[in-house]
Amino acid sequence: MTASSDGHGTRLCAGRVVIVTGAGRGLGRAHALAFAAEGAKVVVNDLGVGLDGAGGSSPGPARQVVDEIEAAGGEAVAHDGDIATGAGAASLIGVALDTFGRLDTLVNNAGFLRDRMLVNLDEDDWDAVLRVHLKGHFLTLKHAATHWRAETKAGRTTVARVINTSSGAGLLGSVGQGNYSAAKAGIVGLTLVAAAELGRYGVQANAIAPAARTRMTEQTFAETMAAPGEGTGAFDAMAPENVSPLVVWLGSAASDGVTGRVFEAEAGRITVMEGWHPGPSVDRGARWTPAEAGEAARQLLAEAGPGRPVYGAR
Ligand SMILES: NC(=O)c1ccc[n+]([C@@H]2O[C@H](COP(=O)([O-])OP(=O)(O)OC[C@H]3O[C@@H](n4cnc5c(N)ncnc54)[C@H](O)[C@@H]3O)[C@@H](O)[C@H]2O)c1
Repeated sequence: MTASSDGHGTRLCAGRVVIVTGAGRGLGRAHALAFAAEGAKVVVNDLGVGLDGAGGSSPGPARQVVDEIEAAGGEAVAHDGDIATGAGAASLIGVALDTFGRLDTLVNNAGFLRDRMLVNLDEDDWDAVLRVHLKGHFLTLKHAATHWRAETKAGRTTVARVINTSSGAGLLGSVGQGNYSAAKAGIVGLTLVAAAELGRYGVQANAIAPAARTRMTEQTFAETMAAPGEGTGAFDAMAPENVSPLVVWLGSAASDGVTGRVFEAEAGRITVMEGWHPGPSVDRGARWTPAEAGEAARQLLAEAGPGRPVYGAR
């Protein structure tokens, strides 16, 4: 591991211990390798499940990424538990503390899809997707935050970072992904609350909405995600490794003061997403009748800009 990000030989995450969930493949793997290249000791979590969360679990993917990090001279440990269970989330934080003696950064990234139009969406598909993304973010966050609060109470300074993974689907909605959009929107709300509640324990919390070529996207968006032809020398815009630099910076001490924000990250582009804010408004100082409320709403909508289109809407 020789990379240095500041041009002075100091690695951005030297001495930090970082957990990345779902790091056996895709974006999580790219984040884990990028953190290790910046000197972090990494806990590589992955349950090793199929694209829809089914098909049994396997310790293979997490182990393989640990091997890659170690082969490059870095330090890492595998955790193959389910982050959407209390026991899995608690043992994940425990592995960081037992193996490396501290925890500085939590990257919540694990998840899977069960895409269906709303009328075809089964209760099981709803529960499974809400569980892995939203509950999976909450449980690891809760256990990490409990540790950081104890550190603060013991008089130790904490420079803690949480990076949550939302999605364009959560910010704008996505046709055929009602369960996933709801979970990813929930993750934004959770991130805002975490930033507000945990600042007193030295914790900064932000979310990303990434886009990259992984098994989750390489078929549905085959054309957009395609790699450039071999030997062309063209920028491989949709490689997951392009999302990781922002995640590593957010996960480092260098991002001091940045909290409660949402960033879109894909290819060579980083965008601050600016969310809900009050638009046109009217207050009559008394109760409306439904008909009057409707008339007022139509007038306000005429003043407001159009909403942004939902992904996949025609
Ligand atoms: N790829 C994209 O363009 C894109 C876009 C928006 C958001 N995202 C989000 O980025 C994250 C990573 O997705 P990806 O594209 O790399 O997908 P991926 O399928 O390649 O990786 C997800 C990993 O999470 C693991 N996982 C699933 N359930 C788990 C559990 N309960 N506990 C531990 N690990 C578990 C899987 O085994 C898998 O290795 C996801 O949260 C996804 O929703 C991806």
